[in-house]
Amino acid sequence: MTELEERIMNYSKDRLSAKRFAHVERVVATLEEICPPAEVSLPDCRLAGWLHDCAKEESKEMFLDLLAHGSIDLDEETRNQPNLWHGFHAAFIGNQVFGIESEDILDAVRFHPTGAPNLSPVGMALFVADYSEPGRPMSWTREIREQAKADLFGAALRVCREKIRYLLGRGREPHSRSFAFAEWLEAGAPSPRA
Ligand SMILES: [Fe+2]
Ligand SMILES: [Fe+2]
Repeated sequence: MTELEERIMNYSKDRLSAKRFAHVERVVATLEEICPPAEVSLPDCRLAGWLHDCAKEESKEMFLDLLAHGSIDLDEETRNQPNLWHGFHAAFIGNQVFGIESEDILDAVRFHPTGAPNLSPVGMALFVADYSEPGRPMSWTREIREQAKADLFGAALRVCREKIRYLLGRGREPHSRSFAFAEWLEAGAPSPRA
């Protein structure tokens, strides 16, 4: 483990409940399991994994303060969905506290709950691992992890569709970024950045 990785891991550990930190540990383990090293940078995945939920237990007031000062840029739709704020907050921390400049890593963290078109393989891996880590209650998570090893894009598309289906089934409107992500994947994810 690199020094930076250890610092981010400890930062998350200090700020999260034991239960949520155990989820973060399983996400990192899942990233190791599913990422074909030839296609995805495992060190980048690990940084994104440790970072992704580090702000999940921070106060909404702190986030609103960052917004008010222009430290974080947020589209109107996401402003109205506070459950999605922690990804943007964590990316801000990754950049400001830990000096991470890779947009692949920062976007992976920012968009881990919804996905987003043009997401890098790191972003896709985090999106899939966050959903399919073995502590999740869904019965099909092992299947998704197996699929991801051979076809990360296909697994990301399945996860995206499942998330959309889940929200619609509960009368909630999925974020437009999730629909755009699914469309981008369906079109063959033509231009991944990495
Ligand atoms: Fe999250
Ligand atoms: Fe998570």
